[in-house]
Amino acid sequence: ILMLWLMMPAYLANPAASLIISFTGQGVPIDFGQEINGKRILGDGKTFKGFFAGAIFGIAVAAFENFINSHFLNKSMPIFTFIPMITLPFGAMIGDLVASMFKRRLNLERGQAFPIVDQLDFVFGAWIVTIIFAFNWFFANFTTNIIVAALILTPILHLLTNLIGYKLGLSREPW
Ligand code: CTP
Ligand code: MG
Repeated sequence: ILMLWLMMPAYLANPAASLIISFTGQGVPIDFGQEINGKRILGDGKTFKGFFAGAIFGIAVAAFENFINSHFLNKSMPIFTFIPMITLPFGAMIGDLVASMFKRRLNLERGQAFPIVDQLDFVFGAWIVTIIFAFNWFFANFTTNIIVAALILTPILHLLTNLIGYKLGLSREPW
């Protein structure tokens, strides 16, 4: 439960991006359509709109959790201080971008599955960016147990939620 609490701003960033795009239409691709060796740098699945909508939604999630924590949970859960509130969701979206960059180099089309990487790119993105900017907060909250729980449970939760999203017609692929 602690792990889910800490990861929620990162977890909800990408689905928020996906939903915003499915409701408002395709945005401007971050790579502006540019190619390297005949392959897109990032592809049409990575847009400015999705990136910022996802990151801002993740910040709102952290703010909402802080509110619930202080008003209803007697501050019994970890508090998202200013920097992690920003670095967890932005890091998640950056991790997702970096993974797409590798996917395109490996000739994987937009949306094609890249097992393990698709499920954990945003976790490592969120962690690395947070370690860079909020080292002490990160290691005070992400203990070994939390890290192990995240590495085991995230891929399972990711596959489950994507399958549900696909069945509901919100996601383009079942993974
Ligand atoms: N999305 C976006 N901008 C981002 C991230 C996601 O617009 N920075 C939207 C896109 O519409 C994308 C959808 O969210 O198709 C799902 O995201 P994801 O699964 O990360 O992208 P894929 O389409 O699978 O592309 P890729 O193969 O590059 O991961
Ligand atoms: Mg995908």
